[in-house]
Amino acid sequence: MILTELKQKQAFSRYYDEAPEAQIARIQQLKADMGPDLLLVAHHYQKDEVVQFADARGDSLKLAQIAAENHTAKQIVFCGVHFMAETADILTRDEQRVYLPDPMAGCSMADMANAYQLTDAWQALTARLGDDIIPVTYVNSTAAIKAFVGQHGGVVVTSGNARQIVTWALRQAKHLLFLPDQHLGRNTALALGVPASAIGLWHAQEARLDSAPGADLRVILWDGYCSVHQQFTVAQIAGLRAKYPAIKVIVHSECQHAVVAEADAAGSTRDLIDYIHQAPAGTRIAVGTDNNLVGRLMRENPDKKVMYLNPMSCACILMNRIDLPHLAWTMDQLAAGRQANQITVAPDTAKWAKKALDRMLELSRA
Ligand code: 13P
Ligand code: SF4
Repeated sequence: MILTELKQKQAFSRYYDEAPEAQIARIQQLKADMGPDLLLVAHHYQKDEVVQFADARGDSLKLAQIAAENHTAKQIVFCGVHFMAETADILTRDEQRVYLPDPMAGCSMADMANAYQLTDAWQALTARLGDDIIPVTYVNSTAAIKAFVGQHGGVVVTSGNARQIVTWALRQAKHLLFLPDQHLGRNTALALGVPASAIGLWHAQEARLDSAPGADLRVILWDGYCSVHQQFTVAQIAGLRAKYPAIKVIVHSECQHAVVAEADAAGSTRDLIDYIHQAPAGTRIAVGTDNNLVGRLMRENPDKKVMYLNPMSCACILMNRIDLPHLAWTMDQLAAGRQANQITVAPDTAKWAKKALDRMLELSRA
């Protein structure tokens, strides 16, 4: 077993010695050979060298919708991160297979909440607040977290539908536990008029709830965050506004609330793309999100002055793990009939996680 893995690793490392042109030509040919049996999707943060092959690209919501609606592809190559591929596996039919070109492409935010911590948190919170609590998880979470949420009557949200779904969830229960991204949770709750004093913070490592004294808690946030979006600051926005008074600043809703409050708009990757497409020619727009996407927006919108909110911030290193060699290797494995890097969610976890995802898809249609 160890010898087989070692051989596979050695075989893979050769892909970094091969000319990119050869890999591009081979992927194109294999895609043509597989026809509709293969669906290759890419998240907006993927590199151009990967995105060029995508049959569809999208934000997390669109990629989940595609997975739920496509019943023809036998093999789905998912160029994104692990939780997205898990979501696709849950939403596709049993006979459809989902592959992640590099299984190490995780999401550090999704890893900030595990099912043991959530079980502990749930016990502590229900003991303190009673059981009129609805759990709501950001799609950037493991399948096990989604399953817990599905089993407890809750729902999944993405940054593209957070307001709509949280509005629904706030009507279902007195308290709402939002995990794992405290920033998306806080930005959404405040935008919906929940007072800051009614928002508490659950410290997962310490199993401790922080809230204002005597607070009438409506929303409890898990203390997770995205290390890419933590890098954007109010000072960066102020610096650009001082230099370019007419500039528009748009940021992903995973940014801290102070940053979102200073920006002209905030939303999902799709919202950011739409904002730029709809802006009049000549508009200068600074974008606070993964730099792979911002770079592409700069190239695709030459009539606008699109720029980085923080040119020094990193692209998401986890999204970046998927590259041309990993994609070429995955395609070669598929062509050879090998199920390499297939992502599968255990049936019982998938059953409950699907409940929370289906609820989201249903509410997003409304
Ligand atoms: P979107 O759903 O907005 O594409 O965001 C996914 C993500 O991981 C942002 O960091
Ligand atoms: Fe996760 Fe942040 Fe990367 Fe998005 S940008 S996949 S939230 S680590």
